[in-house]
Amino acid sequence: MIFQEVQGVRVPALGFGTYRLTGEECVRSVADALALGYRHLDTAQSYDNEAEVGRGLRAAGVAREEVFLVSKVRPRHYAHGRAADSVRASLDALGTGYVDLMLLHWPAEEAAVAAALEDLAELQREGLVRHVGVSNFPSALVARAAQVTRLFCNQVEYHPFLAQRRLLAQAAELDLLVTAYRPLAKGLLGAEPLLRALGARYGKTPEQVALRWLVQQPRVATVPKSADPGRRAANLDVFDFALTPDEMAAVHGLAHGQRFVAPDDGPAWDE
Ligand SMILES: NC(=O)c1ccc[n+]([C@@H]2O[C@H](COP(=O)([O-])OP(=O)(O)OC[C@H]3O[C@@H](n4cnc5c(N)ncnc54)[C@H](OP(=O)(O)O)[C@@H]3O)[C@@H](O)[C@H]2O)c1
Repeated sequence: MIFQEVQGVRVPALGFGTYRLTGEECVRSVADALALGYRHLDTAQSYDNEAEVGRGLRAAGVAREEVFLVSKVRPRHYAHGRAADSVRASLDALGTGYVDLMLLHWPAEEAAVAAALEDLAELQREGLVRHVGVSNFPSALVARAAQVTRLFCNQVEYHPFLAQRRLLAQAAELDLLVTAYRPLAKGLLGAEPLLRALGARYGKTPEQVALRWLVQQPRVATVPKSADPGRRAANLDVFDFALTPDEMAAVHGLAHGQRFVAPDDGPAWDE
């Protein structure tokens, strides 16, 4: 495992995403991921699986403090009191006394974001939330949110086809973790000739090359999801090879602004 050090905290760079995993399949997948060696779990209030993620965590028998557990507040809960109540409900569902990181899932109207961040800061003082962050925030909104409370992370879409240069530079300035979601680019990596060639060089798949490229960057983590035990294991099997600086740069060169998560009411993205 590679650990990213952010604000003096060591975060396992390769985590397990749980979007679209629900019910017993989610419990089994999370327990299996932890048995394989994943130590970072990503859920959200809107995934409707916090209880199952918590059950998977208990079933695995891994000590709570070994796992970096992340969830996200739904935008409809962004109001004073309501955000805090929603996080308490998340903790009840998860069955854990705290989360390592609680994110605001999407930007919203500025006063609502500020109210939710103030609630999270209060929960942080109470020890229920270790770190506070945002998700899907472009750099201008990160800068404003950072004036309300200390941020730890911005979780955004990031893969070889979307560069996120501005957000990575901002993360270096503010000492933030960047967690890359949708790292597998909707199944399009397998056809990419450079990723295939690098995979052939190291005995890896194009997906493994892309995951390695992500976690080899400073302050970048990623949370691939798989419902399949073989792909779950393969996605974690990226720590026995390293890309050279030239190979890293070549993968960076694949970016062409391709974004898969772009709702109509989304923010004005950096790129
Ligand atoms: N903050 C946000 O707004 C946001 C948005 C999206 C996602 N996320 C988080 O990021 C996590 C990952 O993103 P994602 O789930 O959207 O996409 P992803 O992890 O990039 O891709 C998941 C898809 O790729 C398949 N897959 C997994 N491993 C594979 C492999 N080695 N080779 C080929 N295909 C593979 C999966 O199918 P199988 O399951 O059948 O293997 C699934 O269809 C989510 O689960 C969630 O935790 C956050």
